[in-house]
Amino acid sequence: MDTKQFIPKELSNSIEKASFTWQTPSNIALVKYWGKSDPQIPKNASISFTLSNCYTKTSIDFVRKQVSNQACNFELYFEGKKKEDFKPKIEKFFERILMYCPYLLDYEMEIHSENSFPHSSGIASSASGMSAIAMCLLSLECALSKVEMSDAFIKRKASFLARLGSGSASRSIEGPLVVWGAHAEIPESSDVFGTKFPFQVHSIFEDYQDTILLVDKGEKQVSSTIGHNLMHNHPFAAQRFTQANENLSKISQYLQKGDINSFIKLVESEALSLHAMMLTSDPYFILMKPNTLEIINAIWHYRKVTGSKACFTLDAGANVHLLYPLSEKNEVLQFIDNELSMFCQKNQYICDHVGLGAVEK
Ligand code: DP6
Repeated sequence: MDTKQFIPKELSNSIEKASFTWQTPSNIALVKYWGKSDPQIPKNASISFTLSNCYTKTSIDFVRKQVSNQACNFELYFEGKKKEDFKPKIEKFFERILMYCPYLLDYEMEIHSENSFPHSSGIASSASGMSAIAMCLLSLECALSKVEMSDAFIKRKASFLARLGSGSASRSIEGPLVVWGAHAEIPESSDVFGTKFPFQVHSIFEDYQDTILLVDKGEKQVSSTIGHNLMHNHPFAAQRFTQANENLSKISQYLQKGDINSFIKLVESEALSLHAMMLTSDPYFILMKPNTLEIINAIWHYRKVTGSKACFTLDAGANVHLLYPLSEKNEVLQFIDNELSMFCQKNQYICDHVGLGAVEK
């Protein structure tokens, strides 16, 4: 993939001040990304549902520098307060994308960011956070560009930039289903940006529901970055990457045909395979908690007794995402209140559903 297409050619310097605000959602992977090589290239293709209610809203105020220098100058405010500890990650992100966004050097930036979900909920905010910044940068680039930028190119470049901040962020620009990672059966799929799942999806997956059961809201013991790194030299890595790519082929068919039983099996197996990689890393680690397993068992029991199509998935943490068709919403919410919320910290969960990606505010 030719990444030179993302280096802007003709920019004007006519803009002294500008401000842009974007809201971008989190996403939940069905086939998981776990393992990467430099620079943020995934070892296998992944696919996710874009979410809706769990989002980051970010504004960036740009003011042209009076005296130019060779640094990216910015201040960062998170939920109204200056956040020095978030700055190194953003600094590294800006350094990585500088060749694609040279205008970053021309402006003082003030970044204001907030999440719709509690910061300590254990929900990954890097996907929504990095994609929101990427969209704000693209808005500035559009304003500066002497050549017209198509909507498709804007999204593609935003996803390309977001990926360089956090891999899964590449899947948060669009919705309802996004593939990231080159895959033979997904036309246009790429290792360097996410693309919308290109096929017609069966109506059963429309407005799919995701209730996030907040089992553990604390800081993760092992970050995703460390976890990805442990896939280098992992004894099962090669097999896992093959399995994930094969699972993407399969889930593509299930989504198109509405084969929900096969979908359930594949999605749950993916979640457990992801955690199996963690259990078998060197050093090994466990991110699930006892209540994660309580919830999984309760879901299996509920499905057996009722014939429900609800299933679970996990990200790199202890929380459980309960996925189910819209048609089951009332019953599943009852089930959660009666049998699952007791395993959540302070009985808390977040109701979300599939969404369409970034929105300008
Ligand atoms: C388990 O995107 O958080 O959620 O690229 O290092 O920022 P970095 O990792 P990140 O990894 C997400 C891993 C996952 C699976 C997934 O979302 O596909």
